[in-house]
Amino acid sequence: MQNKIAKLHALIEEQIKKQEYGQSPKELYEPIRYIMSLGGKRLRPTLVLLSYSLFEIDPEEVIDQALAVEVFHNFTLMHDDIMDEAPLRRGKKTVHEKWNGNTAILSGDVMLVKAYDMLLSTRKKQLKHVLRIFNKCAAEVCEGQQMDMIFETKSKVTEAEYIEMIRLKTAVLIGMSLELGAILAETKSSTQEYLREFGENIGIGFQLKDDLLDVYGDKKKFGKQVGGDIISNKKTFLLIEALERANTKQKAELNKWLKATDFDPEEKVKAVTAIYDEIGIKELTEVKMNEYFDKGFSAFKKVDASLSGKAMLKEFAEALIDRVN
Ligand code: IPE
Ligand code: IPE
Ligand code: MG
Ligand code: MG
Ligand code: MG
Repeated sequence: MQNKIAKLHALIEEQIKKQEYGQSPKELYEPIRYIMSLGGKRLRPTLVLLSYSLFEIDPEEVIDQALAVEVFHNFTLMHDDIMDEAPLRRGKKTVHEKWNGNTAILSGDVMLVKAYDMLLSTRKKQLKHVLRIFNKCAAEVCEGQQMDMIFETKSKVTEAEYIEMIRLKTAVLIGMSLELGAILAETKSSTQEYLREFGENIGIGFQLKDDLLDVYGDKKKFGKQVGGDIISNKKTFLLIEALERANTKQKAELNKWLKATDFDPEEKVKAVTAIYDEIGIKELTEVKMNEYFDKGFSAFKKVDASLSGKAMLKEFAEALIDRVN
């Protein structure tokens, strides 16, 4: 299993290195090469390849589509980092910090175009279907990102609203990656649907874990600024649950920090984290995350494919629960 995943990763990295994107002006293309070379887990292209591999022998046949998804993902990160005013990505400076905001906007724009270019390798009879799910997903990611921004300044966000927001900004792309592999392998529509449902649920679990790592991650391993969500008043599951369960004193303290405009970021992160600790938010978030992973695995059970292929994809997905970055 490790061997097969390692081979897929090597294939993805090798193909990413080969991508040219463009040359001039270099200010437009350098940031693309920069963000794409920073690594990351390469989760989404791996899912495209693993999904395709459930039904076909040679995943290399769909490497272009897998890379399209990774380029699209990195485009969303480049713009997300502007919106979140994030200083760090994968342990390195974010593009808008290393260059500037306009560069990050434009390089991101052209990445979206490059992602579509890569999809053009799709066989004609599948192209429309592929574009349809890709476009739906891309619009939903924007919807989720807009909700995320609106929620920053909204004082009351419910758990259901939060789950819908992360389903859109994060989970649909993970669902689409798995669905894409199944479409390219020409499977029956119920199979495509179960794989999408699997991806969407583990995708919600994946974002819950991301929110958890944002507070409790190890700075050296996480690669992003720890506490960034607290600093910018992100309505994460952690905060929503804390506000729900806080006693009078804790609630007053949380609200004080949420309203503060002039504060020491480190002090805010420390104080809010301390309240999370008192309430036991880490454990509560883990329970919720596991709930969505389990939901995903139930959908995955219904996928009609070889047991050995399925075992590998399941093991790969399970490893996301205990990830450290
Ligand atoms: C980051 O995605 C954005 C989220 C949806 C949480 P990843 O955690 O997959 O980031 P990389 O690609 O591995 O860096
Ligand atoms: C971003 O969620 C999801 C997308 C990029 C669409 P986050 O803002 O939590 O992602 P990170 O933590 O910056 O990677
Ligand atoms: Mg972010
Ligand atoms: Mg964000
Ligand atoms: Mg995050």
